[in-house]
Amino acid sequence: MKIKKAIFPVAGLGTRFLPATKAMPKEMLPVVDKPLIQYAVEEALSSGIEQLIFVTGGGKGALENHFDRSFQLEETLRQRKKLEVLREIECLVPESGTIIYTRQSEPLGLGHAIWCARDVVGDEPFAVLLADDLIQSETPVLHQMVKEFDRLRASTVAVIEVPREETSRYGILDADNPADMTFRIKGMVEKPPTEEAPSNLAVIGRYILTPRIFEILGEQGKGAGGEIQLTDAMSQLLTKQPIFGYRFEGTRFDCGDKAGFQMANLAFALEHPEIKDTLSSYIKEKLC
Ligand code: G1P
Repeated sequence: MKIKKAIFPVAGLGTRFLPATKAMPKEMLPVVDKPLIQYAVEEALSSGIEQLIFVTGGGKGALENHFDRSFQLEETLRQRKKLEVLREIECLVPESGTIIYTRQSEPLGLGHAIWCARDVVGDEPFAVLLADDLIQSETPVLHQMVKEFDRLRASTVAVIEVPREETSRYGILDADNPADMTFRIKGMVEKPPTEEAPSNLAVIGRYILTPRIFEILGEQGKGAGGEIQLTDAMSQLLTKQPIFGYRFEGTRFDCGDKAGFQMANLAFALEHPEIKDTLSSYIKEKLC
């Protein structure tokens, strides 16, 4: 079955980026010249996704406006003959009806956010993209995962190795053959302290899940941080269906973290034709 729907949980408060995120959704923070959410949406669309499901919360209106037409702006760009930017602005608006917004009325965690989209997704496998995890790669990571899903016909999560002292920031996996590119997961635990972590293999914000997860999420109690955790529901799902870890090709930046966000800006800027030369001369000058 084709993966046609993707959930974007975008209800988080972004407290780590205050005051920048006081009146602006954290997903609108720009990496070079594009907001984080646009990278995630473009990744999904170029991976064959046809329906984008945003799980939003209060104060997220800018996200809806970003993916909608802005007639005044378009008209001004047209009058000023800024046709290239105009085309870009027009292209980023998905076809009407492609984006669906549903609201998470309480901040009960990632698992709860996914559950909020259950009726929109229905009875088919779907993707989840966390915009905070920005990945620079030749082939979009979700596209790589969709191909794996086609082969395995089972839930698949993106995985990287993290330093052992950072396990308490991630969903951490237990597996028998974790060195393989794709491996079967035996267990998962959300944000374990280093001494309790079964490995240093961390789940990154790209998931392909079967709809069975919704039933489990509906009954899932609170876990780490007092929130309903997707990782806890997946560890239940594991007892009923296989789930695979997938070591993707690409570099992941943690844009939920100030340092990671700056690194992403640097990495993407150094690939950007307009600014890469100016920036690399500046860096060389600063470092010498
Ligand atoms: C979420 C998930 C966690 C995963 C991480 C990846 O955590 O709960 O399992 O490893 O995303 O970025 P968060 O970063 O929202 O706290």
